[in-house]
Amino acid sequence: MAESMKGLHRSHRCTELGTGNIGETVTVMGWVQKSRNKGGIIFVDLRDRSGLLQLIFEEADCGAGNFEKAEKLRSEFVIAAVGKVEARSGAVNENLATGKIEIRVTEVRILSEAQTPPFPIEADSRTKEEMRLKYRFLDLRRPDIQSKLMLRSQVATKVRAVLAEEGFLEIETPILIKSTPEGARDYLVPSRVHQGKFYALPQSPQLFKQLLMCSGYDRYFQIAKCFRDEDLRADRQPEFTQIDMEMSFVDVDDVIAVNERLLQKVFQDAIGLKIELPLPRMTWQEAMDRYGSDKPDTRFGMELTDVSEVVKGCGFGVFTGALEQGGSVRGINAKGQGQMSRKKIDALVEFAKGYGAKGLAYAAIQPDGTVKSSFAKFMTEEQMKALTEAMDVQPGDLLLFAADRNKIVWDVLGNLRLEIARNLELIDKNQFHFLWVTEFPLLEWSEEQERFVAMHHPFTMPMEEDLPKLDSDPGAVRAKAYDIVLNGTELGGGSVRIFQGDVQEKMFEVLGFTKEQAQERFGFLLDAFRYGVPPHAGLAYGFDRLMMLMTGADSIREVIAFPKVKDASDLMTNAPDVVDQTQLEELGIGITEKEQK
Ligand code: AMO
Ligand code: AMP
Repeated sequence: MAESMKGLHRSHRCTELGTGNIGETVTVMGWVQKSRNKGGIIFVDLRDRSGLLQLIFEEADCGAGNFEKAEKLRSEFVIAAVGKVEARSGAVNENLATGKIEIRVTEVRILSEAQTPPFPIEADSRTKEEMRLKYRFLDLRRPDIQSKLMLRSQVATKVRAVLAEEGFLEIETPILIKSTPEGARDYLVPSRVHQGKFYALPQSPQLFKQLLMCSGYDRYFQIAKCFRDEDLRADRQPEFTQIDMEMSFVDVDDVIAVNERLLQKVFQDAIGLKIELPLPRMTWQEAMDRYGSDKPDTRFGMELTDVSEVVKGCGFGVFTGALEQGGSVRGINAKGQGQMSRKKIDALVEFAKGYGAKGLAYAAIQPDGTVKSSFAKFMTEEQMKALTEAMDVQPGDLLLFAADRNKIVWDVLGNLRLEIARNLELIDKNQFHFLWVTEFPLLEWSEEQERFVAMHHPFTMPMEEDLPKLDSDPGAVRAKAYDIVLNGTELGGGSVRIFQGDVQEKMFEVLGFTKEQAQERFGFLLDAFRYGVPPHAGLAYGFDRLMMLMTGADSIREVIAFPKVKDASDLMTNAPDVVDQTQLEELGIGITEKEQK
């Protein structure tokens, strides 16, 4: 039977106690981590979110009744204990914050008994993630998850403090909004009052924060829930959190400057990391050319080399064919990997095919300088020499080439570079490499929709000098858009917004919206712009991604209290789930059975 805590007040968290408290009588409360009965003496490790504390029970101190209770204690029982802080009688535990002390208990109460948990509550769990997520309320007791969520809270507090200092206002924006397709798929919420109509959950507060600028709030931020119905990955959840901001009367450099100060203060406060400012910047074009990625991991080299010019007249049809199609031939040099086995090279070729490569051409430079290569037979000796020289080779290097459309070549080599670095453990996990990637293309050609789509969103400002190209060569227009990249992950992104009506109209035209469609979808924003709009710009971080990178977690699920799994379901609550027929009727919704496959 559970006892009451009446008359007791917790005086300390477990690890708030130390040798400085010796002699004090204290009251502690928490979960039993472990209990050991040594016959006449019982040791209990008590756990709370701060850590562990050793309790010691002897009948002489606590009397028969309390000692009997101590004998019953099992893992995960919730107890309150009153006792005196003493220097540890047995061996001192240097691994514990409280390893030099123990509490000699005079009174114990069992506040709650506990069933045996389905997996042990300990750090570095080897329990399958599925099991952990089904019992997330237990998983969340594990100290490694607790420390991540505590750090997350600390970071949120620091972000608020820094942004307040910088003159930002925290303003909430609605969750039930109008669906404005463009970007990811929306989550829809049916309206009961307006049957047949739907709200959408926000993919981001984008339009509302721009409206706030129109309304004169000048610096806004929000730690905002966002919802996107897209395929999940390690760094993607259907609902996630952004640190979202918008500023008026600013340009790219102003947004970057505020955010560099923010990152510097937050990383210093959270993990003691010193960030040198200004952070490095790279244009999108340079990032693609050097790393084959718009979010390059700059913790290691192995950069791409464009060898199109060198192989232009060569006899290898794969290379010349790609060039004739307007593509390119590029390569990477895996230093010192010239002896890589055929099997491993084949595995890399298969990996490359996963990113759309038709193949991968390789050249292994032997210790004696001769070349073993999949395509040497199509090349003259001079051509081969020119090619290897372009790649800064030494004996023992492995050169890998892809020939195709630029987009595929970048994607293949960008990912191959990462794969090789992972395989060879070239990445120093203790480093934090920040990078601004700037001047993104404004538009991206969508093969599916056979039209240009906005690379960021339709309100992103083109670079002034590229404006004339909106008509003549839309694909070449660069945007005032920027991403902040950390260790090869897109941590955040933003842009300067279009605030001139004529530019916005032009943009909608290029995107293939009629005036009516634009008005129907974004009318409220366009209307607001007619009543006086300041130049404005902003940025949003993925807060979950920030915490994942800060804590070195493998997935954002590790830094979200109640995450969803790959199929967007919650294993603990079983959401999404069927609802009552009456609920559906109220909403005027009928379910059509999906045809059995
Ligand atoms: P964007 O779409 O780039 O920009 O999103 C900003 C940041 O949010 C994070 N993020 C995600 N994190 C977890 N799960 C997801 N499914 C997910 N999708 C995005 C990323 C990303 O960099 N309104 C604009 C910002 C702006 O222009 O101010 C926006 O939402 O870290
Ligand atoms: P094939 O002529 O298809 O037998 O290819 C000859 C060599 O070129 C093989 O080693 C292929 O893996 C490689 N290869 C094929 N297509 C490409 C490509 N697009 N880029 C680079 N190498 C390729």
